[in-house]
Amino acid sequence: MMQRCHKKKTQVPLIALIFFVFIVSTILYNERNIQQIHQDQAHNDDGHHQPIIKQIPLYKLSPPQNNTHPNRSPVVLDRYSTCKSTVEYSGRRAEWDVPVPESDNRRASLETCDLFSGKWVFDNTSHPLYNESDCPYMSDQLACHKHGRPDLGYQFWRWQPHNCNLKRWNVTEMWEKLRGKRLMFVGDSLNRGQWISMVCLLQSVVPADKRSMSPNAPLTIFRAELYNATVEFLWAPLIVESNSDDPVNHRLEERIMRPDSVLRHSSQWEHADILVFNSYLWWRQGPVKLLWSTEENGVCEEINGLGGMELAMDAWANWVASKVDPLKKRVFFVTMSPTHFTSQEWKPENDGNCYNEKTPIEDEGYWGSGSDLPTMRMIDRVLSRLSSKVSVVNITQLSEYRKDGHPSIYRKFWESLSPKQLSDPTSYSDCIHWCLPGVSDVWNELLFQFL
Ligand SMILES: *[C@@H]1O[C@H](CO)[C@@H](O)[C@H](O)[C@H]1NC(C)=O
Ligand SMILES: *[C@@H]1O[C@H](CO)[C@@H](O)[C@H](O)[C@H]1NC(C)=O
Ligand SMILES: *[C@@H]1O[C@H](CO)[C@@H](O)[C@H](O)[C@H]1NC(C)=O
Ligand SMILES: *[C@@H]1O[C@H](CO)[C@@H](O)[C@H](O)[C@H]1NC(C)=O
Ligand SMILES: *[C@@H]1O[C@H](CO)[C@@H](O)[C@H](O)[C@H]1NC(C)=O
Ligand SMILES: *[C@@H]1O[C@H](CO)[C@@H](O)[C@H](O)[C@H]1NC(C)=O
Repeated sequence: MMQRCHKKKTQVPLIALIFFVFIVSTILYNERNIQQIHQDQAHNDDGHHQPIIKQIPLYKLSPPQNNTHPNRSPVVLDRYSTCKSTVEYSGRRAEWDVPVPESDNRRASLETCDLFSGKWVFDNTSHPLYNESDCPYMSDQLACHKHGRPDLGYQFWRWQPHNCNLKRWNVTEMWEKLRGKRLMFVGDSLNRGQWISMVCLLQSVVPADKRSMSPNAPLTIFRAELYNATVEFLWAPLIVESNSDDPVNHRLEERIMRPDSVLRHSSQWEHADILVFNSYLWWRQGPVKLLWSTEENGVCEEINGLGGMELAMDAWANWVASKVDPLKKRVFFVTMSPTHFTSQEWKPENDGNCYNEKTPIEDEGYWGSGSDLPTMRMIDRVLSRLSSKVSVVNITQLSEYRKDGHPSIYRKFWESLSPKQLSDPTSYSDCIHWCLPGVSDVWNELLFQFL
């Protein structure tokens, strides 16, 4: 865990560099994209009465606290936060008041069928579950058909577990499960894609004047009056408090996090009835800086991404262990979403990526370099200790097969592309996110099985 990052990087320098540059920009664009949705929506609804949306309390962007005073809470991180100096990680860990229990294996014994082990079946009668153009909340980052994707095969695949069948998606039944409740997705842009998928899956049966979407903010809320329910998304890419918690502006020189505080986010998510967390890709961009809450002089410690993620997961696990009553709250964790940047991995002697891929990988058990095994093992360890309180939506293997499911060049890009880029589509392909309708809908079908 304490391995220095540059050592790790030299093993795959080119891939790492391409990946880094790419992800930073795509994740950024994603945010503007949501604003775009709201603009489009406002535009479409021109002349119609828009429901008034309750103001959501936001965290302060530039708090006036004085962190040299020992009795005050530490300064809230924002995008202007900097480290006064940086030292190597000391090995320090937060001391939690409620220890997370040792591993309990209750979940394993209840499982009768592994829903995550199976294969993709082409089925154009049951899928897609909705049409791209019918969903007013669709994101321009994920609307691949609208952005010119000619092959629509990616929409027609159904997930078939080996030893059982998935319950068919039933939107009425899903709404009944959500009646009077708050369902909240918490995480990064992959989780936001799953949230948009869920909203698209659910919205069609609610009359337009009985539903609404709040403006883009750290917390964005889809509300269905008809069911007195909300489906919400909280932007929290590192789970813990960080300088990247602004959903629009987070293209930053350094990533600073508080390894001992989830409070900024947990104050928003603690009232939700059903919580769906994810976190992964942001930890793959290189080292992160730790600013402990007790550190008053702005001295940061630098740690590699995996180490940083483990500290963040610990802080989150502590929140779950101390605050979640499984009879009152359901908590899910969605595992790593794979990327497909290196087509050599599934097609030797080909140096492309997900661009122009039209069918899933059929090789059972296929695992590419986009899904980091040490991260998976760390997540396994953290989640095994929470198994009575957290259900795992293990999407990694099934999404690994879906090299065809990414937007590649068929999405909105916010920065203009150079002629050189345009002449080589693989150079700017998005092989991170997932077209909708598509793979993320199936993640939600899995969630539906567990509710
Ligand atoms: C912060 O608080 C300390 C101790 O009360 C005080 O000496 C210092 O002047 C304050 N700094 C600012 C910027 O207010
Ligand atoms: C489904 O796919 C089959 C085989 O490709 C095709 O013959 C059929 O027309 C398709 N049906 C629909 C509804 O798209
Ligand atoms: C999508 O649109 C097509 C053509 O308009 C229609 O036949 C089909 O039923 C729609 N599918 C869904 C899931 O709404
Ligand atoms: C969907 O669920 C509702 C409510 O549980 C039920 O009445 C209906 O029959 C279901 N529809 C299908 C197609 O199974
Ligand atoms: C709506 O749901 C909230 C919980 O999310 C509950 O407190 C409230 O009483 C419900 N309102 C109605 C009219 O059912
Ligand atoms: C998810 O599934 C993979 C196999 O596909 C397995 O190695 C891993 O342990 C699982 N993770 C969790 C948290 O269940």
